[in-house]
Amino acid sequence: MTSIAQRMMGNPVFSLVYEKAWRPLFTRGFSLGGSGTADYDHALRAYLARPGERHVLDVACGPGNYSDDAAGGLTGDGRYIGIDFSAAMLARAGHDHHAERVTFVRGDAHRLPFADGSFDTVLCLAALYLIPDPLPVLDEMARVCAPGGEVIVFTSARTSVAALPGGPLAAGLVGLRLFDLDELVDRLRSLGLEHLEQTVTGVGQYVHARAPKASS
Ligand SMILES: C[S@@+](CC[C@H](N)C(=O)[O-])C[C@H]1O[C@@H](n2cnc3c(N)ncnc32)[C@H](O)[C@@H]1O
Repeated sequence: MTSIAQRMMGNPVFSLVYEKAWRPLFTRGFSLGGSGTADYDHALRAYLARPGERHVLDVACGPGNYSDDAAGGLTGDGRYIGIDFSAAMLARAGHDHHAERVTFVRGDAHRLPFADGSFDTVLCLAALYLIPDPLPVLDEMARVCAPGGEVIVFTSARTSVAALPGGPLAAGLVGLRLFDLDELVDRLRSLGLEHLEQTVTGVGQYVHARAPKASS
């Protein structure tokens, strides 16, 4: 059965208000009204915008709300590709973010239509908790990440606050999954990723990991 959250993602009206209204509110919600998640998000955007010739993949990119940052500093053959399975979100992305070096494609995060090791940066932000079978998405992200490249995830975290009475039930009712604190890092580690960094902000978590460099 399709969850409430998944149905919202396919709705053109929701895609219209997502970037400017919903996402900033939701971001604050992750740090329970505090600024921790918004501050980290700000830092992440600045990090993504650093200059360089990178190939960036944004898995479940929604309306492309990170594309301007992630493509802003790209040089040479650098490219940003956003992939999402919602036609409504992609229509919005194409309308609002049609920069040079930016491409949006429709597809399923479980079967990324790219060769192994194609991207230097592989993002999945604010989406894994909506995906009914999310851990294989991490496998795919690790597969398409180039040696020495990075995987960056922002999603939910089952912290003590999230586990308070009503929290898991409310999340489950709208179709949001709460990840155990070691769930994503364990999976990424088992895929051979290294230098794992996890930052927990309220009921959210950012995870950064690197694929091992190719041996010479
Ligand atoms: C809440 S939005 C996140 C958008 C953006 N990444 C952000 O950080 O705000 C979640 C997105 O995940 C997409 N999505 C959910 N399941 C997916 C799947 N299996 N494959 C591709 N996209 C998916 C939805 O269509 C939606 O656009």
